[in-house]
Amino acid sequence: MTVAEASKAEANTVEANTAEADNKACIEFKPGLEGIPATKSSISYINGQKGILEYRGIPIQQLASGAGFLETAYLLIWGHLPSEKELVEFEYEICHHRRIKYRIRDMMKCFPETGHPMDALQASAAALGLFYSRRALDDPEYIRAAVVRLLAKIPTMVAAFKQMRKGHDPIQPRDDLDYSTNFLYMLTEREPDPLEARVFDVCLILHAEHTINASTFSARVTASTLTDPYAVVASAVGTLAGPLHGGANEEVLNMLEEIGSVENVRPYLNSCIERKAKIMGFGHRVYKVKDPRATILQDQVKKLFEKLGQDRCYDIAVELEKAVEEKLGKKNIYANVDFYSGLVYRKLGIPKDLFTPIFAIARVAGWLAHWKEQLAENRIYRPTQIYTGAHNAPYIALGDRSSQSPS
Ligand code: SDX
Repeated sequence: MTVAEASKAEANTVEANTAEADNKACIEFKPGLEGIPATKSSISYINGQKGILEYRGIPIQQLASGAGFLETAYLLIWGHLPSEKELVEFEYEICHHRRIKYRIRDMMKCFPETGHPMDALQASAAALGLFYSRRALDDPEYIRAAVVRLLAKIPTMVAAFKQMRKGHDPIQPRDDLDYSTNFLYMLTEREPDPLEARVFDVCLILHAEHTINASTFSARVTASTLTDPYAVVASAVGTLAGPLHGGANEEVLNMLEEIGSVENVRPYLNSCIERKAKIMGFGHRVYKVKDPRATILQDQVKKLFEKLGQDRCYDIAVELEKAVEEKLGKKNIYANVDFYSGLVYRKLGIPKDLFTPIFAIARVAGWLAHWKEQLAENRIYRPTQIYTGAHNAPYIALGDRSSQSPS
């Protein structure tokens, strides 16, 4: 074979390999990676057809009725239910790490009052990394310290911004209160009723983890570069903020208030369907039946309203869920976790724009569990693409370009 023939043969091989790779990419490409496994994980499991959700194999219903949020966070992060001693130690550590650096409080004082609390949380979570910049990802003590700090300090930062954006001093955490009671106390300086604290704790359990959703995927991609856990959580917070993801719970309340009455539910829904507008709090990439978390949340809402009084938005929500099932059930569109959660938070007197930060407070447990799992068997995420652009395009000197840019 001559040199020319050899180089032609090599060029043909490269071209064939490129075409094969492009062809493989075309076969596997799914918008939004729908149905494409992005990782292996043993943290949680969903069966979207049957409406099943398990954390480390335990059905969510059992955890919602019998466990606490910190106990559930321990299960997710360390992979097993804690013994009584392990749980007491974990709760003690978190209780005594709730305070935030004054420099982070001072930074928050510069945030605009009109800024969204999710943006404030993302900035503050990233800022935590400035104080704990050592990246000892192979040191179990470093891992545990980061888990404790993030679980302990995220609620304090959410509550602090709520106070400071109005010019008030933040309400200091109280070491004699449990996790959910303390958070609600930091929002209002009032100790909540035990039922209010328990319902809130159940909400945190239900929002703690949900396999490889968008924000958890962000967390794993960020973790795979071996950056610090504060950057991992900040990346996930930014992803959760979107209205198609965690931001939906705030939008649901806006929608229920806009509907205004049970009589207006169907005209409102028909208008959404005509406009092909998404109804917030409904639909799910995985669940093709009602989200099991929505069912549990609905029960929690009823408990709260029996004690604290009814809310007209609940009647509107129940009527809307019925109407959506009639109209869109055939497309497998049912209520998801965001549909009823806002009704709980509103009854607890929590401002609407804190609903998604509360989702983040809970989901920190899941993000940290995935961070640890990613580190245990890491390979940096680097998917491929299907290139749809030009090749060998000419560079045209500035003076030779027409004034009209190409459409
Ligand atoms: C969360 O992934 C997770 O696990 C997320 C989460 C978690 O715990 O981490 O469960 C939390 O994010 C819950 C979802 C909260 N978001 C919302 O409530 C916003 C409204 N929902 C939709 O935007 C939507 O349902 C998604 C984003 C949740 C899922 O979107 P998909 O899977 O990409 O579905 P799609 O947009 O491709 O829609 C498929 C069809 C379309 O109709 P056609 O064009 O085929 O005729 O269903 C329709 C959509 O128009 N559809 C809806 C709808 N959701 C889907 N139509 C009206 N209202 C809706 N809410």
